[in-house]
Amino acid sequence: MLRVGVLVSGGGTNLQAILDAEKSGVIRHAKVVYVLSNNASAYALTRAASAGIANECISPSSFETREDFHRALLAAIEREQLDLIVLAGYLVKLPDEMIQRYRGRIMNIHPSLIPSFCGKGAYGLKVHEQALSRGVKVTGATVHLVDEGLDEGPILLQKPDDTPETLQRRVMEEAEWVLLPRAIEDYARAAAEREDKA
Ligand code: GRF
Repeated sequence: MLRVGVLVSGGGTNLQAILDAEKSGVIRHAKVVYVLSNNASAYALTRAASAGIANECISPSSFETREDFHRALLAAIEREQLDLIVLAGYLVKLPDEMIQRYRGRIMNIHPSLIPSFCGKGAYGLKVHEQALSRGVKVTGATVHLVDEGLDEGPILLQKPDDTPETLQRRVMEEAEWVLLPRAIEDYARAAAEREDKA
């Protein structure tokens, strides 16, 4: 069983999805054993505690220097003997030393289709603001391995990951078959209203 540590900063809905996937059997070969937050009030910590998972906050603001924070972070990760580290909305840049030591064993989820809308300044709602203001009609999420770059490591999975056939099906189910009947009804109602007035 792979020992997984999840690093969080906020609400922890992704953490919850992982825990739910363990329960439902979608995840069978890994177990979250540790949750770490940089933010003491992150609701993700409450979720971890409710699930009986060891959790703690290690905040940069409790240390005099960035190096001291990095040392404490690395010490905690080492202590937990983790096989896999999952960044699930963790808003702190990892020290290079940690990336080197755990190369290939750290994954991150990013809420866009990398290489679009990622990198510096692309976090939280800002990612979606960028996508909308750019006018994209399709966006999604990417899970990738973490390297020294920002949102740059090898991509593991993306969604949507359409083929022309699955995209055709989705556009039909979610758009065409909804829009066409609705347009007919709107048209008919407008015609009926016009007739009532005449
Ligand atoms: C998610 O959108 C995730 O993709 C991004 O940060 C957000 C975290 O949300 N990296 P939550 O804390 O898992 O609810």
